[in-house]
Amino acid sequence: MDGNGRWAKRRGLPRTVGHQAGAEALKRIVQAAPDLGIRWLTVFGFSTENWSRPVAEVAELMALPQRYFRSDLPRLEREGVRVRVIGREGGLSRDLLAMCREAEARTAHNKSLFLTIAFNYGGQADIADAARRFAEEVAAGRAKPSDLDEAAFAGRLSTAGLPPPDLIVRPSGEQRLSNFVLWEAAYAEFVFQDVLWPDYAPEHLKAAIAEYHTRDRRYGAVIADDVLAAG
Ligand code: FPP
Repeated sequence: MDGNGRWAKRRGLPRTVGHQAGAEALKRIVQAAPDLGIRWLTVFGFSTENWSRPVAEVAELMALPQRYFRSDLPRLEREGVRVRVIGREGGLSRDLLAMCREAEARTAHNKSLFLTIAFNYGGQADIADAARRFAEEVAAGRAKPSDLDEAAFAGRLSTAGLPPPDLIVRPSGEQRLSNFVLWEAAYAEFVFQDVLWPDYAPEHLKAAIAEYHTRDRRYGAVIADDVLAAG
């Protein structure tokens, strides 16, 4: 959800106001996603690198999930959205963690949209944490090194149970992954859009999905026609 700072700067507003506008954009997209055929939606709310921002900005970013759940949890519950918050717990306040766990528990039975909020998340940190967990299991005698394959490793990431992403959308004109779902992105399609996140609307997501449908996904294989042509 990139571009909040630039959106605010263009209006002569503090960056924190950009993040508040970004939270409103998130609400719009979560509401629109099921009608666009989306079942799994994962958003990047705070990265393990975002701690290096000014203290007041970090404080505002920390307040946003609680505010979001306070205002929207009843609607998420009602509309069938299942919430999951992934990322490192260290550094997050007890209140924030309690609110996240409450949102997960209250929506645990929902099935229409699986909303994952990556918060204090980093793809490299997640891979390191998964590797450490597996090493601990081996040290405790609960697993053998030969048990580890791609599926077993994926099952130890914080995204375990989610399908690998089909489409990764990055707004704001930047063209990089910035430590998001590094392992999971192996065969994802990327769409970069030149719109700042606070301006992001369902029509932008619809356009990204339309672009996705023009892609030819081969997963490292060749398409059947080319096999025939090659004899
Ligand atoms: C990156 O834009 C955005 C963030 C670091 C925060 C994203 C968070 C939200 C949109 C609100 C999240 C709400 C919940 C409920 C999790 P940037 O600040 O780097 O923008 P810039 O590149 O223009 O400076």
